[in-house]
Amino acid sequence: MPPLRAGVIGLGVGKSHAEGYHQSPHSTLVAICDSNPQRLAEYAQKYQLPASACFSDYQTMLAQSQLDIVSVCLPNALHAPATIAAHQAGAHVLCEKPLAINAAEAQAMLDAAQRSQRHLMVCYNYRYRADSQWLYHVVHSGQLGQIYHVSASWRRETGIPGWGLFADQAMSGGGALIDLGVHVLDLALWLLDFPAVKTASGQTRALFGPRRRKMWLPPGQTPPPFEVEDGAVGFLRLASGASMFLQATWGEHTLPLEDHMRVELQGTEGSAILDIPNYRKEDTLRLYTEIEHQAVTITPSVRWDAPAYQHIGLVLDVVEKLAQGVKPTTDGQQGLTAVRVLDALYESARKGQEIQLD
Ligand SMILES: NC(=O)c1ccc[n+]([C@@H]2O[C@H](COP(=O)([O-])OP(=O)(O)OC[C@H]3O[C@@H](n4cnc5c(N)ncnc54)[C@H](O)[C@@H]3O)[C@@H](O)[C@H]2O)c1
Repeated sequence: MPPLRAGVIGLGVGKSHAEGYHQSPHSTLVAICDSNPQRLAEYAQKYQLPASACFSDYQTMLAQSQLDIVSVCLPNALHAPATIAAHQAGAHVLCEKPLAINAAEAQAMLDAAQRSQRHLMVCYNYRYRADSQWLYHVVHSGQLGQIYHVSASWRRETGIPGWGLFADQAMSGGGALIDLGVHVLDLALWLLDFPAVKTASGQTRALFGPRRRKMWLPPGQTPPPFEVEDGAVGFLRLASGASMFLQATWGEHTLPLEDHMRVELQGTEGSAILDIPNYRKEDTLRLYTEIEHQAVTITPSVRWDAPAYQHIGLVLDVVEKLAQGVKPTTDGQQGLTAVRVLDALYESARKGQEIQLD
């Protein structure tokens, strides 16, 4: 089978997708698209792409490039239209997170994938950390027993994006919850094999962004209006009887420059913590259990095999599975599940009451 013809739309985080397609023996990067001409020129040069492979408009790229797979790495509100267009052009799509700004758009994307008989996948790169993968196997081996509670958070001391469209409600669909919270929500749901979520209760706040505090602001730039939340908490009841606590902040008073992801699973035979301060790779795991009736702490250290790490690892995996005709692991249905939960948390925050999910 010839290598898949790959294209990338949006070259912010999309640059890592481009690198993955470039590295994989199963794909060739044949087209890139960005409305920013400097970015486009930078990556055209890096990957030695001719002018005919570089586009400022994704519809033109899709019409002219006969792509097998497209990465959609645009602001959140553009995920749905670009993905649907790519499916209509006959391509598989790897879409950045969150899949969409609401469940109706995510469902329309899945419908388009089904109509075109192509795969829709979501870029949940944190599943591809070696420690996340190891924890997944621990949970699935049953060593923690029955999981009865999960606590998942991503919290930043200073991290309110002062550029781009992140603070624009219409373009992003929300703030810290949809941006950071969706990653740890996905990790938690993935570790539990996507249990049904029965109810969601959420609360959001915007306490720092409106005052331009705790903001990453490129020098000389005026921040856009701040329309979204900079912090959120959520509580989910799962059909299994387990509970889940969720927290996401772009800014709060804590350790200077702290940027902290954490997923804690409590089970009847053991608890496990994935604790990732400042993206570190070492010493991120703890297991608590009993051996011979003694409470013990286990400190696993897992091996990291480059380059299968995060975005590039995810792209390599996706392309290899497609080349082998195997169903990719990060599927669009899981992306829709997370967006449904986010919708319910935002609705709960607006109404001040718990929301039932179907
Ligand atoms: N998986 C992750 O860890 C991760 C990390 C960062 C961002 N993201 C997601 O990736 C998406 C993009 O975020 P980003 O940080 O790369 O943003 P960004 O603003 O840095 O980059 C977006 C790029 O898209 C281009 N663009 C915007 N509208 C366009 C259009 N209509 N046509 C062509 N190009 C257009 C912009 O010029 C820009 O270069 C978001 O959905 C975000 O949530 C995911």
